[in-house]
Amino acid sequence: MEHWKLEDVAWSAFEPEKVDPDMLKLAKAASLVEYNAGDYAEYLKHVFHDDPEFQSAAVIWAAEEVQHGKALARWARMADPEFDFEKCFKRFTDKIKLPIGTEHSVRGSRTGELIARCIIEVGTSSYYSALAGAAEEPVMREICTRIAADEIRHFKLFCRTMERYQPAERPGLIARVRIVLDRLSETDDDELAYAYYVANHDGDGPFERDVFGNAYKSRAYSYYHHWHVQRMVAMTFKAIGLKPTGLLSRLMARIGFATMRRRVRRSSAASI
Ligand SMILES: [Fe+2]
Ligand SMILES: [Fe+2]
Repeated sequence: MEHWKLEDVAWSAFEPEKVDPDMLKLAKAASLVEYNAGDYAEYLKHVFHDDPEFQSAAVIWAAEEVQHGKALARWARMADPEFDFEKCFKRFTDKIKLPIGTEHSVRGSRTGELIARCIIEVGTSSYYSALAGAAEEPVMREICTRIAADEIRHFKLFCRTMERYQPAERPGLIARVRIVLDRLSETDDDELAYAYYVANHDGDGPFERDVFGNAYKSRAYSYYHHWHVQRMVAMTFKAIGLKPTGLLSRLMARIGFATMRRRVRRSSAASI
C-alpha cells in the first residue's frame, strides 16, 4: 500500500503564477515514465518468479511509482489544462516497450538487476529532491518532497534485496561497476528523450533523440546542487559495496557535478 494518497496533497494551495515553465516540461515527461512502472513490475515478477517476498514488494513499489505519475500529471494539468496525459501516454508506450516476458534479467543476474534498480532510485531520489528544493510553486514542492522520500525507500528496498542475492551470485567489483556504467549510459537512450518529446513537442517535427534528450537533461540538471550529486555518488558507491564517503566518492561527485554544469551551460542558448 502506498505511503500517501493523492488526496493527501494540498492541491488547493496551487499558485499558477509560481509555475516554472521548465519544471512543467519536466513534470509532464516524468509523469509518463513514472506511470509506466506497471510494466516494470511485470518484468520483475518474471525475473524473480520464485521469490514471493520480493514479488509482493515489487507490486507495492510499482503502485507507488504509478502514483508518482498520477500526481505529476495532475499537477501538470493544473498548470496547463491543455496537457492531454492519456494521449501522450499512449504515444509513449506505443514506442517504448519493455522485455516483460523474460525470466532472466537483462543485467545477467538478479544481483545485477537489483544494482540497476538501485541506480535508478538514486537518480530519481536526487532528481525529485533537486526539483523540490527549486520549486516555488507549493504543490509541486509538496509532490516532489513526497516522491523523493518514496524513491529513497525504493533504493533501500532494492539494496536490501540485493544483499540477499549477492552471497550466492557473488558478482565481482568490475561486474558491479560495469552495471552502473551501463545503466548510466542508458540515460542517453530513447525513454526519457521520447517522454520529453511526446509530452512537450509532439507535432513540432520528427523525434530526434539527441536534441530532445539534451533538452530534457539540461533542464533537469539546472536544478541540482553539488550536495545532490555528492549524495548520488555516495548512494551508488554503497550499492556496489564501495566506501560511500571516501576520497574517490568526493572526487567522482566533483567530476559529476562539473559535467552536469557544463551540459547546462552548453544548452542554455538552445531554444527547445
Ligand atoms: Fe518514482
Ligand atoms: Fe522509485
